[in-house]
Amino acid sequence: MTKDFDFDEPIDRRGTHSSKWDAFSGRLGAYPEDTIPMWVADMDFRAAPAVNEALRWAADHGVHGYFGDFGDFHRAFLDFMERRHRWRGQEEWLITTHGLVNAIGLCVQAFSEPGDGVAIFAPVYHMFANTIRANDRRAVESPMKNVQGRYEMDLEDLSARIDDRTKMVMLCSPQNPGGRVWTEEELLAVIEFCEERDLILISDEIHQDLVYPGAKHRVTMNVKPSAADRIVTLLAPTKTFNIAGGLTGVVAIPNEELRARFEKRKAASGALAPNRLGLLVSTAAYAEGDAWLDALVPYLQASRDRLDAVVAEIPGLRSMHLEATYLAWIDFSETGLSFEEIDERLRTHARIAVNPGPSFGPGGETFMRFNFACRRAILDTALERLAATFG
Ligand SMILES: Cc1ncc(COP(=O)(O)O)c(C=O)c1O
Repeated sequence: MTKDFDFDEPIDRRGTHSSKWDAFSGRLGAYPEDTIPMWVADMDFRAAPAVNEALRWAADHGVHGYFGDFGDFHRAFLDFMERRHRWRGQEEWLITTHGLVNAIGLCVQAFSEPGDGVAIFAPVYHMFANTIRANDRRAVESPMKNVQGRYEMDLEDLSARIDDRTKMVMLCSPQNPGGRVWTEEELLAVIEFCEERDLILISDEIHQDLVYPGAKHRVTMNVKPSAADRIVTLLAPTKTFNIAGGLTGVVAIPNEELRARFEKRKAASGALAPNRLGLLVSTAAYAEGDAWLDALVPYLQASRDRLDAVVAEIPGLRSMHLEATYLAWIDFSETGLSFEEIDERLRTHARIAVNPGPSFGPGGETFMRFNFACRRAILDTALERLAATFG
């Protein structure tokens, strides 16, 4: 806990139209009344003061018409990226979207045809495969290697799976789930893989700021600037600053031809105008959110360490040691229980709502994903319940 921002402040999110707190029974099935929601990836913390001041300013002004003039947003975004990630993009490369799942869908539509393949490293954020399939493309899933509890991409495996109708690789960097922060060498290998096979590389870097000491996120495009023409970078302030409801994403496409194809699909979707409130909070967060973010990461790090320590004592459970994200990835394989039994125990005994591992694709079969971005008191209750259920 820092003196400036109180991440332990109890804030009741029930009855606030929250997906995480108000909608899990509908989405995930029946749960008891006192269930702790640890599923969808947003945090229970109050946003940075600048974010709420921006909303207050908008409310006081009181007129909520269409947004225009991206100048402040682009400046705040580009300065943030240079300050924190040493990436200097150009304003003309940038296209905003209604969040990054929207951007993923537009990439699939812009850069491939129905029946084409899109390569992904599994297990990965379920909306990669879901969106690829919803667009009638094939998700070419390359299972990662689990090397002593740490994921590694297997480019030999991927090489064997792709064919000449595979148009792109979609990378999650840092990785959700599993929390890997890819090293420079790993990123370079993926870039060169794409160069050798003439593939477009979509790099989803939404988790770039929630990285723990010891690991360093590298913007994929920075790893090999000469390959920038085939790289499409997906960025967003929404995970970083807990403004996911603002649904604002930024797509950076240096290649003019690819950018034109993306813009054409965006125009065809009809979603040309941005969400003004999303842009206002995103601008404020990028411009003035650093201190909040610098306090948040150590809080999450302490929660990660507490979770790892408790889980290590529960027979049969193993958590991957996260280098990034607040999404614990716990392997239940050594409990000897079936997935259905684990799910049932979590639901009715532990009373914790999680994301089921199998939804992340091959390799996720025995895992469950726990979002620990809640206040410590709630995390402790959840961990006690987990230990009592499986201990
Ligand atoms: C890798 C990744 N991309 C995208 C998203 C969601 O993006 P958005 O809310 O902007 O649509 C998530 C959410 O968890 C994610 O983990």
